[in-house]
Amino acid sequence: MGIKLTQAEEDMLRGKNGEACKVAMGVLLRLGNALGAQEFVRVSSVQCMAHYGSLHDAGLEWLEKLGDMGGRCCVPATQDPASIPFEDWEEMGFDKVYADKQQRLAAAAKKLGEVLTWSCTPYAVGQVPRFGQNIAWAESSAVSYANSVIGARTNRTPAGMAVCVALTGRVPKERMYLDENRAAAVKVNIRDAGELTELDYNTIGIMLGKFAGTRIVAFDGIPESVSNEGLKYLGAAAASSGGVALYHVLGVTPEAFREDPFRGQKPAEEVTWTRRDIQTAQDALTTQNPGEVELAVVGCPHYSIGELIKLADLARGRKIKKGKEFWVYTPFETRNLAERMGLADVFRESGVRILASNCLVISPFPRKYKTLMTDSAKFASYLPSEHHVELVYGSMADCVNTVMN
Ligand code: F3S
Repeated sequence: MGIKLTQAEEDMLRGKNGEACKVAMGVLLRLGNALGAQEFVRVSSVQCMAHYGSLHDAGLEWLEKLGDMGGRCCVPATQDPASIPFEDWEEMGFDKVYADKQQRLAAAAKKLGEVLTWSCTPYAVGQVPRFGQNIAWAESSAVSYANSVIGARTNRTPAGMAVCVALTGRVPKERMYLDENRAAAVKVNIRDAGELTELDYNTIGIMLGKFAGTRIVAFDGIPESVSNEGLKYLGAAAASSGGVALYHVLGVTPEAFREDPFRGQKPAEEVTWTRRDIQTAQDALTTQNPGEVELAVVGCPHYSIGELIKLADLARGRKIKKGKEFWVYTPFETRNLAERMGLADVFRESGVRILASNCLVISPFPRKYKTLMTDSAKFASYLPSEHHVELVYGSMADCVNTVMN
């Protein structure tokens, strides 16, 4: 047994498409066989990772080596956020040796022909797969969004593997690529919760990850009016507190819109969450001994243009308090749009800093702040342990009201 190769894949393995493609196909074949796959699927897009904070020197050397061997992506391959803000790192006090390594990674990704979006929301910057399409994305919130909200198919592709998929256009067919692995196993009812805010969807995501682990959940009770941002936060948080790569929402997400996500089976477990449960989980996301908030950080996953409009409306005419800061993470393209729309002027006047195409979790923390505030449950999950800070969890408006006059 093992993976049965097509003629084109045999050719790649023999080096017909160059040395880098041959190496990449060899890696994928070994991984695929270890994972029990029977064949490869062709993918239409890849999300790679070249952030030095996770790849370190070994990952840098791997990407540079593939580039030196003549490797070129054969499908659009975007990039997850970088470990430095490319335009602000010097002024913000990032270490030069560290920044140089990230710049080398950027150069290696460019040489391989990657699409340098540097974002965990590739679907917001031009990479929108179709329903049912096979892709290979890397970052957990993007994976959840693609599987759940779009109905595309991807596993959480490890960084070293993703570049091999980008060079070959192939990925082992296993787990999320197989129809039978996408059915819901457990059910969560949302009842008596009132109107759900984006902060609520963040919080429900944390509850989901803790409850489900890697099981696939179908929600009942999330309204059809839920925003794409709400679903983005739900999936991001669930992937941070558990291993959720796919969830369904009855009447909302594509695999539960007209079809039964349980495929005729009874849920193995069913729970009901009310406003009280959500509030308890929300309170638990603030750490135990927060001091006065010094820095508000939002944009995890990267803020959309709709969120930047809301933030500008909240910040207009106000100023950051002395000794405090407000950072927003968003893709370059969304920042550029905000510039054209005049939103960036509002942020400059009020003192809000836009950090394009970076992420605080995978960056060193260049400022010595002790208490942060965020509207993102994923940031709330990771920042206290990653950067040894206290954290206050609240809405976008709470963040603005806390650090601005
Ligand atoms: Fe994106 Fe970083 Fe959050 S990659 S989802 S901003 S932890």
